[in-house]
Amino acid sequence: MTNTTRRDFLQKAALGTAALLAYPPARVLGANDRLRVGMIGVGNRGQDLLKEIMAVPNTQLVAIADVYSRRHDEAKKMAPGIATFNDHRRLLDVKDLDAVIVASPLHTHARHFIDTLAAGKDLYSEKTMTWSIPEADQCMAAAKESGRVIQIGLQWESSGTLADARKWIKDGIVGKVTQVNSWMSRNTPHGKGQWVRAVPSDCTAQNVNWSAFLNGRPDRPFDPFRLINWRLFWEFSGGNVTENAVHQFAWIMSALDLPLPSAAYMSGGVFSEKDGREVPDTIAITLDFPHDVVVAWQSTFSNSHYGLGEHILGSDGTIDHTWGESDMVTGETGEIIRYFPEKVNRPHGAALTGKTPGQDHMTNWVDCIRSRKTPNASVEIGYRSAIAVHMANLAYRQKQRVTLEMAKASKPDF
Ligand SMILES: NC(=O)c1ccc[n+]([C@@H]2O[C@H](COP(=O)([O-])OP(=O)(O)OC[C@H]3O[C@@H](n4cnc5c(N)ncnc54)[C@H](O)[C@@H]3O)[C@@H](O)[C@H]2O)c1
Repeated sequence: MTNTTRRDFLQKAALGTAALLAYPPARVLGANDRLRVGMIGVGNRGQDLLKEIMAVPNTQLVAIADVYSRRHDEAKKMAPGIATFNDHRRLLDVKDLDAVIVASPLHTHARHFIDTLAAGKDLYSEKTMTWSIPEADQCMAAAKESGRVIQIGLQWESSGTLADARKWIKDGIVGKVTQVNSWMSRNTPHGKGQWVRAVPSDCTAQNVNWSAFLNGRPDRPFDPFRLINWRLFWEFSGGNVTENAVHQFAWIMSALDLPLPSAAYMSGGVFSEKDGREVPDTIAITLDFPHDVVVAWQSTFSNSHYGLGEHILGSDGTIDHTWGESDMVTGETGEIIRYFPEKVNRPHGAALTGKTPGQDHMTNWVDCIRSRKTPNASVEIGYRSAIAVHMANLAYRQKQRVTLEMAKASKPDF
């Protein structure tokens, strides 16, 4: 396929169904009605979400779709009696299914998102919302038209730390914020690249619906390494930016109520382990936002000392949110959010520690399906965080500062 036909195909693949749709109305659930749920993509993350949905009262996991038969067996062990399919469209045909959880690889999110809404189901879709900016626009439009209840798997949107940060900012004790610094770091043993997964011996062409995995990417013989390690390659993934920065950008954008970035820059490379991956393991991003705010994010896979966190720097105070960093004094690790006054502007202000409990993200989705309210991680924040990370990746790949206008005009490629 030439680059142009490939691009056209990519756009049409995600977008094609949307134009034809008349969205069926949601089944009205009584308070005691069981919510019937299906899942698309039941690998690593999907199996966590499977346990989460099974723990929510008055829900029933009815069926799953996964292109790899091993996942059918694993899911059936956890949820005996479920139906299994190797094509997500068969799952969406299941009678009386109310809602669908999507935890498939990034390059298939838009298709699963749009097809789920078209089938008249409510949706929980893993982050990042989509693989590209045009797909994000299409999913946003489909979400608005469909009126469905949609939760994006940005679970920090349900955290108590976000509630604390928002309150401190709203109370005015942080003052004018011009800069946010954030970071995320991991390490691995020498010679072992972060994220690389072993290919199980039953991962063969017979056991995998390979064309469904490819989802319109150029056809080629079955490649088990790419199926299992899709995260390492641009055509399926956005690397650590779509895997992890997106969580932190969403949290920061929600805390400060930031609009779309006006520009992005990203540097870095494959520096930790040169193991054939395409996506960078060492990253420094700068996002410019309207109204004079700069957000920076740094990430490495060769050192984990500082864990991950965000520093919101205000003229009147600092919000310090860290997760996994060793406390210098106690040596303890864990999530903590603190506020420190700036002596020059709040000389009598007191330091604070956040105490607000978080909400269960999956339960929040189910509650909203029943109440028809908007979940904590709405499509809107899914969209804004997706655009932000795609702008950063475009800047890295084009080796230049990318404005929002440039990003919106650029065509997806890999
Ligand atoms: N919210 C979080 O904290 C969090 C954490 C980890 C992963 N994730 C997200 O979850 C998603 C899945 O990640 P993972 O680590 O579980 O990947 P994975 O490879 O372990 O699982 C993906 C599953 O989808 C299946 N699949 C592939 N193509 C499919 C298709 N067309 N239809 C149906 N099934 C298909 C694969 O066989 C596999 O079982 C990603 O979007 C990732 O970013 C989110």
